[in-house]
Amino acid sequence: MEQLAPLLSATLSARELEIARHARHEPALLSGAHETGHWDARFEAWLGRGTARAFIGGRAALLAVTRALGLGAGDGVIIPAFTCQCVVNALRFAGTQPQYADIETVGFGLDVAAVERAITTQTRAIMIQHSFGLVGRDFEALLALARSRGLLIIEDCAHALGARYQGQKLGTFGDAAVFSFERSKIITTIHGGMAVAHGATAGARLQALAAQAPLPASEHTLSQLDSVEHDYWVRVANDPAKAAWAREHFAATLMPQMWPEEFRGIHFSRYEERMPSAIARLAHSQFDRLDTILAARRQQAARWQAWAQRAAYATAAVVPGSEPVWLRFPVWRDAALKAQPHALARELGVEVGVWFTTPAHPQPSVQAHCPQGMDACARVLNLPTLLPAGHRYAGA
Ligand SMILES: Cc1ncc(COP(=O)(O)O)c(C=O)c1O
Repeated sequence: MEQLAPLLSATLSARELEIARHARHEPALLSGAHETGHWDARFEAWLGRGTARAFIGGRAALLAVTRALGLGAGDGVIIPAFTCQCVVNALRFAGTQPQYADIETVGFGLDVAAVERAITTQTRAIMIQHSFGLVGRDFEALLALARSRGLLIIEDCAHALGARYQGQKLGTFGDAAVFSFERSKIITTIHGGMAVAHGATAGARLQALAAQAPLPASEHTLSQLDSVEHDYWVRVANDPAKAAWAREHFAATLMPQMWPEEFRGIHFSRYEERMPSAIARLAHSQFDRLDTILAARRQQAARWQAWAQRAAYATAAVVPGSEPVWLRFPVWRDAALKAQPHALARELGVEVGVWFTTPAHPQPSVQAHCPQGMDACARVLNLPTLLPAGHRYAGA
């Protein structure tokens, strides 16, 4: 049977394979941050506003920006009832109290009326998550609400690298932002992320936090490089023999997407770590191809749009003035199909994603005051937008 088009690591190429193989023999790349400094500067210049620092994940970046904004014990941060456990963890590890508010169901962003209802005297910030790389229906209204109530805005751009609203890049609208380069993201370093702080005070705090942050132990970085090689052969290169070899060869050293401590909500060291040079080099390399990657994702999303329209499946609406990046193509189906997505995967010839299955995916979480978020968790599936060249899929 033809391999299903992957949801993960699809942007890895032979170039990243070579970088990973080379870096494992270079102590300065494994245990230094010299190239990370260049990457920070490149990202900052690309974003055009704010101070940017690379951490070992979007979750670590979220912890860092929360601290850089001066948020801590007792501070409430509004989050959508359609997110993942690492977001909740990062906010809790900073000492803050996540406060759920419901989402709207056309752009999967926070519903502004629900946010107004969720604000308490404790609330200090709103986290605007650009799910699937879309701009939510109430984006402007949320920015205005935050301004009128004196609340900080954190943009969660983990899905939205390169997306824009009114010509301006997402990640530049609030007081801070985070980006992710995890396996499932627009580009991937297996794990990686960017923290962005706006304004002199938060920017200086973020700089200091990054300067003090430890680098991962080199065996962790080696495991991450192994994972690049594994994912290249298993998910990207169309070579069954090499894929079988990689599965066996890297079985013991593969890096997980989440660690056992995280599932238990225990604060652990990887939320504190900076990105080492070897990983920054992988980010640089894929960033060179960002425009091509985004164009391909948008093209495939348009094909999925046509497919959804023909089948009368509900999907997302594109907010006027927004340029989404379509990390995934979301589609509303029924709960039974979401519980067994393999059937749809076989039918379409692509892996099918389930983000998010609960408001703190994958941890059980029921937010009864957020019925739309709960409904999306029960029924929204998502499809990959970066398919291997020449891949035949049933939505054509
Ligand atoms: C919406 C959202 N925010 C933040 C994160 C955290 O990013 P990372 O996996 O790089 O830690 C994720 C992760 O998967 C996510 O889906």
